[in-house]
Formats: sequence, structure tokens, C-alpha cells
Amino acid sequence: MMASFRTLDDLGDIAGKVALVRVDLNLPMKDGSATDVTRVEAVKPTILELTEKGTKVLLLAHYGRPKGQRHSTMSTSFVQGDVEDVLGKEIMFIPEVMGPVVEQSIGILGNGDIGLLDNVRFWPGEEANDPEFAKGIAAHGDFYVNDAFSAAHRAHASTEGLAHHLPAYAGRAMEAELKALDAALGNPETPVAAVVGGAKVSTKLDVLENLVGRVQHLIIGGGMANTFLAARGVDVGKSLCEHDLTATANKIMDTADHVGCTVHLPYDVVVAKEFAENPASLRTCNVHEVGPDEMILDVGPQAVEALGDVLKTCRTLVWNGPLGAFETEPFDAATVALARTAAALTQDGSLTSVAGGGDTVAALAHAGVKDDFTFVSTAGGAFLEWMEGKDLPGVAALTA
Ligand code: 3PG
Repeated sequence: MMASFRTLDDLGDIAGKVALVRVDLNLPMKDGSATDVTRVEAVKPTILELTEKGTKVLLLAHYGRPKGQRHSTMSTSFVQGDVEDVLGKEIMFIPEVMGPVVEQSIGILGNGDIGLLDNVRFWPGEEANDPEFAKGIAAHGDFYVNDAFSAAHRAHASTEGLAHHLPAYAGRAMEAELKALDAALGNPETPVAAVVGGAKVSTKLDVLENLVGRVQHLIIGGGMANTFLAARGVDVGKSLCEHDLTATANKIMDTADHVGCTVHLPYDVVVAKEFAENPASLRTCNVHEVGPDEMILDVGPQAVEALGDVLKTCRTLVWNGPLGAFETEPFDAATVALARTAAALTQDGSLTSVAGGGDTVAALAHAGVKDDFTFVSTAGGAFLEWMEGKDLPGVAALTA
């Protein structure tokens, strides 16, 4: 069962009160504006719900990793315009997070207005989770709302500490995220399948070790699959492969055998002699036929079809990482095909599908199915740590 946490439904009359709302505005930027505002769209319902009830909203966020110092290129003022565009409202930039400037600004804000505090990571107390720093920020608010799941794996003052100084609530995005994650791994309908892809086993060892005991089907793709294939004695040629981790891969497969989890590895693959768009040397072959000068760049079509059949027997899917080198055509084919199967099953109502992680979101968007999954998390590191089975400090503080 998911631990309970307070949501905006538990707030009483909040007109004229000041809400400190932690959001994630760590947006990808190019030439001064955001290239993806999904994270702002995610927190819009929370912000507007509070402002419509007459609350003064102070947005609290980090941007980049300035390591406790003011950094001219990392002010949250750079995202002010993007936030205003998404919210359809003007907001006031406040170049501090506590003290007289913040107090004066609150005095200027009317009920239902929004202020954007500067990058909370400009102060060392943030990452140190210094209680005095958290107390200083808390002094300006009547209550605290955390709507930044994607920063919840950080035990920082604004993500964790504040919950100890003010009544704390999950915002709507956080609430939706926690419910979706619970439906995917906390309390899922079985059978559960997990797709774990990406380049390296070493970055996802904890994920694999956690999932193996929790899901009935573990589908391994991307460069990671090569390490598992090598562990099974397959010659993967020039493929990306962590040969030093084959013993670990074998251990994971042994555990899987023990607990009744089926590990799915590709049996046909798409290979090429060079990694380029539509290379001349492109071919599809059985995994046992990879030449010494070839590299595996995608899962083959027969394996993808078989994986689709596996998903048809499942009730829940959790997905992190692409199956192939999806950014370069045609090595996106397996990811696109399996994502479309998962999306269709979700739309038919037979599958609850939850995906997360930067590459994964990009891959689903590329397949045109981002909106057809049950839930797509905008979190990167936090989603991975959740898949590793770790308690996230920002979530724990809300449920304490
Ligand atoms: C993210 O972009 O994943 C979050 O904002 C967390 O950022 P961080 O990795 O710098 O803590």
C-alpha cells in the first residue's frame, strides 16, 4: 500500500495565504528559451488551483548546479518568460529566497499573484539541507507544496527540509506521479513487464536487481542487452558491451530463474559495421551470426514481435530506456514498434503503462505515443531511483 500524503484537497480556506511551491524548472534551454516546457505544463494545474483560491504563490526552484554560489547564467529569471507563457499570467521575479526583499515582494503581490524566487541552489544551505536555511525560507510561507517529483531524490532544503517547518502537501503533479508509480510497481496488477534499455548495465544495475524480484517479465534492450548476451556466451562482435559485468549479468539471470522472472533478450538483431544513418553494411541477423567487425544497434523485428506478444499477456508495464540507438535511423525501429504496441494495449484498456527518464520520453514522443501511455514521468534521476526501489527523501517527507 502506498503511504498516505496530504494533497491540495486537504487545504482549507487559503485566500490571502502564502504558499511556497517547489517546482522543477530545470528546463533544457537553447538561445535563451526553453526547448521543452513539459515540466512547467505539469505544475500548471497546481499553481492555477492555488491562485484561483486567492493564494499568493511563491515558486521555489533550482536551475543547473551552481554549487552554493550565485552564477550569472543560472538565475531562474531565465525561465520566467517560459513560465509566464505556459501559465498565461505575469509573474514577479524575486532575486532572493528569504529576507526583506522577499517580505516586501509578498507585500506587493496581490491575492492570486505569483512570485518566482531565484535559484535556491545559489545558497549552500539548499544542498546541505541546512535546517536554519529551510527555516528562513519557511518563515515567508503559510504552507508548503511539493510538486517537483523529478527533484524528490534530492534531500535538499527545498525538497525535503521545508516539510519539517510548514504544513506540507503534494501538488497535483506529484500526486499523479505517486499514484501512477504505485500502480506500476507498488501495487500493480500482474503480470508486470519491465522494459529496461539504454547503453550501459553499469548505470542500471540497481534497477535490474530491484526489478528482477518484482516483475514477471524483464525485457532488456539497448547496449545493455549485449552485456547479457555476452554473458550467455554470444559473440557480440564490435558491439558496445561491458565485458567486465558479464558475471553480474549472469547473477541477475540466475536470480530471475530462481524467482520466476523471465528475462527476455533479443534473438535477432540489427547490425552494421559503422554507426551512421542507414549505413551500407546494415543487416538483420540471428544473435549468433554477428560478425567480428559488426555491432548490434537495435533489436530485430522477430524479437520485437515476440516482445509484443509478451506485453499482450501482461496487465502492467514499466519502461525505462530505448531498445536500440533510437536517435539514428533505422535503429529506432524496435523502440517505435514496441512503444506503439504498448500504447495500443493501453488504449484498449488491457495494460497500465508507465514510462520515465529523459531518453524514454524522447523515444515515446518520437514514436508518436507519448500521450497514449497511462503515465509518462518527466523525471530523470528520481524515476531511476524509484525503479531502484529507493525511498525518495522528497516523497518520504510528505508521507511522514
Ligand atoms: C532533473 O533535471 O533531473 C532534476 O531537476 C534534478 O536535477 P539535479 O540532477 O541537478 O539534482
